[in-house]
Amino acid sequence: MDSDLEVLLTPAEFAALQPRDLPDVVCVVFDVLRATSTMLTALANGATRIYPVREISQALQLRRAHPSALLAGERDGVRILSAQTGGVDFDLGNSPREFTPGRVAGREIIMTTTNGTRALQACQGARRIFAGALLNLAALARRLETERPARLLLVCAGTFEEAAYEDTLAAGALCHAVWKRFEHARIADSALIARQLYLAAESNLDAALSCSRNARRLLENPALRDDVPWCLRRNALNLTAELRDGAVIAD
Ligand code: MLT
Repeated sequence: MDSDLEVLLTPAEFAALQPRDLPDVVCVVFDVLRATSTMLTALANGATRIYPVREISQALQLRRAHPSALLAGERDGVRILSAQTGGVDFDLGNSPREFTPGRVAGREIIMTTTNGTRALQACQGARRIFAGALLNLAALARRLETERPARLLLVCAGTFEEAAYEDTLAAGALCHAVWKRFEHARIADSALIARQLYLAAESNLDAALSCSRNARRLLENPALRDDVPWCLRRNALNLTAELRDGAVIAD
């Protein structure tokens, strides 16, 4: 990272993140639809910690060390079932609406999703790694105001190897919120792009967000379509959460 404010727009860029370059950097990871929105919902509803892991096999292995933890996650958007694990149905998928206080309060959760958990892992070595979503944008902006990072990297989880419009817009909204503080610093064009996209869409953000590939995929699925308006509720959660010692916790 050569700039002070930068956005990683695609997962293809994760490979370039080297832990040795990140100790001064604060990262915010956005997987608006749906992994980081789901994690924040779970923590707001009382989950104690969320272990994000990349692979199903890692989730199963970690559960052996944490036998009372819930297993959560998706492949192709739907809950992981026994056919994919060799016999274990995951307790939860990746729909934030499933993570109710009744299901998650007081529980640890081990979670694997296609892109979101991978994006969090890619930031290993950073000074702080926050989970970001539209749900907690204002809380994040306030937190960054206190944190005052000299270098801020916003990481869009994307879709497979591609950029995701909703993550770019959320990163753009956060760029806009911190813009004044970085005005005299080195701002990468990626941050300029994300902010300009956000400003162009700001007056009708829900309509813009609903056009994204991920939103359309979820909206076409009757069981998952309500996740879209759920995740687009800006500032519904007054909390920030960060990845620390392998788990995402509310701070
Ligand atoms: C992911 O982590 O790739 C997404 O959250 C996928 C999903 O919507 O389930």
